Amino acid sequence: MGCSTGMSSRWLARQYPEAQVLGLDLSPYFLAVAEREERQLAAQAGAPERRVRYLHRLAERSGLPGHSADLVSFQFVIHECPQAATRAFIAEARRVLRPGGVLMIVDNNPRSETIQNLPPTLFTLMKSTEPWSDEYYSLDLEAAMSDAGFECTVAWLALHTHPT
Ligand SMILES: C[S@@+](CC[C@H](N)C(=O)[O-])C[C@H]1O[C@@H](n2cnc3c(N)ncnc32)[C@H](O)[C@@H]1O
Repeated sequence: MGCSTGMSSRWLARQYPEAQVLGLDLSPYFLAVAEREERQLAAQAGAPERRVRYLHRLAERSGLPGHSADLVSFQFVIHECPQAATRAFIAEARRVLRPGGVLMIVDNNPRSETIQNLPPTLFTLMKSTEPWSDEYYSLDLEAAMSDAGFECTVAWLALHTHPT
């Protein structure tokens, strides 16, 4: 969901070679790039079939059949969205997933020291392109997922870079 130009969709397709992978986004422009990448990859591999099928849809109203997916993935989408949208995404994922399915959300870690210690001016600058940052960083994501009926496991990773 929110597949943009398909980077994470293509990664998922490589991890699960047997799976049918769908990428959904509200932007026809990003989807056009994703389609072009898909055509190029298929041509390079000499494969008749594309691995990822792209759909122009809203993540909160995907139109996918209920109980039809094993995995619903949001990678770097929800930090750009208001809390109401994130709650609607989670509800839609619950509808679409089969019993025992997995909702995977990969995003910025609100508890990371880097985020916590961002200078206010830098955080304000970031908000010029990511206006819902305040809503994202104040959302209790675990509670939102539990409220929607998910058993929630959170693994916030902190990545540190060291000079070599
Ligand atoms: C940072 S990009 C995601 C990158 C992509 N998941 C990846 O890892 O390559 C965020 C995307 O979310 C999409 N998006 C935001 N709100 C959406 C919504 N309600 N429904 C579908 N897509 C949405 C935007 O159009 C944008 O392409």
